[in-house]
Amino acid sequence: MKISIVYDSVTGNTKKIAEAIYEVLKEETISFGKDYDEQADLYFIGSWTDKGNCSEKIQDVLKKVQGKKIAYFGTCGFGGSLNYYEALYQRAASFIDSSNTVIGHFYCPGQMPEAVKTRYESLLKAHPEDQKLQVSLENFEQVKGHPDLKDMQDARTWALKMKEEALRCE
Ligand SMILES: Cc1cc2nc3c(=O)[nH]c(=O)nc-3n(C[C@H](O)[C@H](O)[C@H](O)COP(=O)(O)O)c2cc1C
Repeated sequence: MKISIVYDSVTGNTKKIAEAIYEVLKEETISFGKDYDEQADLYFIGSWTDKGNCSEKIQDVLKKVQGKKIAYFGTCGFGGSLNYYEALYQRAASFIDSSNTVIGHFYCPGQMPEAVKTRYESLLKAHPEDQKLQVSLENFEQVKGHPDLKDMQDARTWALKMKEEALRCE
């Protein structure tokens, strides 16, 4: 089984997950990086979350893949709710052609830059009554430090499971 790991990452969170996947699938991996390579059987495709969706680069990659097996992964800055992860995944999945077989998906939190916190804090100074801003600030603290060691271990375990499942549906 030939594996390709394609990801887009601006601040490094999604890259960390891509690297954790690579660590356990090194032997089968024929390409790792930002570009789509047509030679593989199983594609691990990962993105950060940009305004509730996967990045435009990853949308373009997802649109290109035809007749392959796909395991999708993502990082996001808001919360760790499974419902939210599922909603994000459904948006990404809308770019996947039906000729592909999606094996599974994985999400974990990804910390946001300090500038985001500074912005929330200055907005809160101007609007101390704004509950949404308060929640955003609390969320900022919750995702700080992610992906952490456990997230990376979860990604490794998931990646191995995805390979097994892909082999089973050969
Ligand atoms: C411009 C911008 C938009 C973002 N939009 C969202 C969003 O809509 N939902 C979300 O959960 N996280 C959002 N985030 C947070 C990032 O998706 C998150 O921190 C991610 O882990 C970054 O991954 P990277 O380090 O691989 O770039 C946004 C971050 C930025 C900078």
